[in-house]
Amino acid sequence: MKQYNIITYGCQMNENDSEKISKMLTDLGYCSTGNINNADILIMNTCSVRENADDRFFGNLGYMKNIKKKNDMIIAVCGCMMQQEHIVTQIKQKYPYVDIIFGTHNLHQFPSLLEKHLKTKKPVYEIQNSTDEIFEGIDSERRYSYKAYVKIMQGCNNFCSYCVVPYTRGREKSRKRQDILNEITSLANSGVKEVMLLGQNVNSYGIADNIGTSFPSLLREVNEIKGIERIRFMTSHPKDLSDDLIDAMSECSNVCNHLHLPIQSGSSRILALMNRKYDREKYLSLVDKIKAKIPDISLTTDIIVGFPTESEEDFADTLDIIDTVRFDGAYTFIYSPRKGTKSYDMKLDIPADVIKERFSRLLDIQKKISEENKFKYLNTAVEVLCEGRSKTEWEILTGRTRDNQLVNFTGSANAGDIIEVYISNTKSFYLQGKQI
Ligand code: 5AD
Ligand code: SF4
Repeated sequence: MKQYNIITYGCQMNENDSEKISKMLTDLGYCSTGNINNADILIMNTCSVRENADDRFFGNLGYMKNIKKKNDMIIAVCGCMMQQEHIVTQIKQKYPYVDIIFGTHNLHQFPSLLEKHLKTKKPVYEIQNSTDEIFEGIDSERRYSYKAYVKIMQGCNNFCSYCVVPYTRGREKSRKRQDILNEITSLANSGVKEVMLLGQNVNSYGIADNIGTSFPSLLREVNEIKGIERIRFMTSHPKDLSDDLIDAMSECSNVCNHLHLPIQSGSSRILALMNRKYDREKYLSLVDKIKAKIPDISLTTDIIVGFPTESEEDFADTLDIIDTVRFDGAYTFIYSPRKGTKSYDMKLDIPADVIKERFSRLLDIQKKISEENKFKYLNTAVEVLCEGRSKTEWEILTGRTRDNQLVNFTGSANAGDIIEVYISNTKSFYLQGKQI
């Protein structure tokens, strides 16, 4: 049997696309291998959101040349980086051993591109700039039997000044409500208990396409699907988070009490430069509203440090808002200029050591808050969806609470079981306990 290996960089969208590529390859008779040396085909699904993802990809691609020399595997590269002309040119010139290049809008064509390459033995390139279509009927090879990603929309219309996504993923396009509901019903029928609804900005689901429904309405309908016990979603742009969504979250018993609400900066001046369309006051009043309606909500966020012109005062505003909201977790990034974005031409005026120092201050403060927020779980029972054994300690089971806290515990549960765990200890990044 022929074997494939996929390397995925970046976000859940990319993970979901890789699951779809896996399914296409399985249907073509390939099986997955963890060992690249044995692969007949390697797929590298790239991310362009920050420069370090670019660098890691090119580093790995260089390394693959030697492996290809030994095993003659086909190398296919796809994902967000392939939507950038200068990257594709660079690959064609410096990495001519790449056999197939395809863009984010050409995913569904992968089997025919592979067939063409196998027939002609020549490089095959297929990159479409954008598409108004969402291709239905591409199944995913599911990594887990009990949880699944469900893409509800693609693309983004927001053009935050630092962000390359609207250029690589194109304009916002929502899937039809019925297609989404059918997919989730069939997942539920096959034993899936948790779904993660994916979109760059789920809060604007259906708006640009005028498809006559909204994200809160969709949530209410998904909440009615028998067998789905946990509904999560990502990502929510604060500017589009409606009162109706807060109501839907508090009404729907299967919608988890966790919200990822990227703030990016606590300074209104920087937020304006980022084109985020809210200021710190608006963000804070939104958080107040959410906490008033859903008192046990867990909030997480994304923060960028070192956006051009960020002063010590701006950064102090970020630390202040973190201390006020007390997020359970934050993904923190150092600003990375991306070609083609609005902020790309802004002068990088903050010395690297200043950015580094700010970044480490931010990490320290957030770590302390994340730790302190965990104390409330001590000596309580929490509901956990067991995800199987811990990767590092065989005898320890691992899972997540409804509010997305990681729990490591002892017990007898199997992956996919929803059980109760008594929390007896807390660590910086997880809770510890025993199955009841
Ligand atoms: N530099 C640093 N971080 C970025 N992000 C997006 N673009 C950039 C960039 N150019 C971060 C944002 C976003 C997350 C997915 O990645 O915080 O919410
Ligand atoms: Fe990028 Fe902003 Fe769109 Fe998120 S909302 S994908 S940060 S442009």
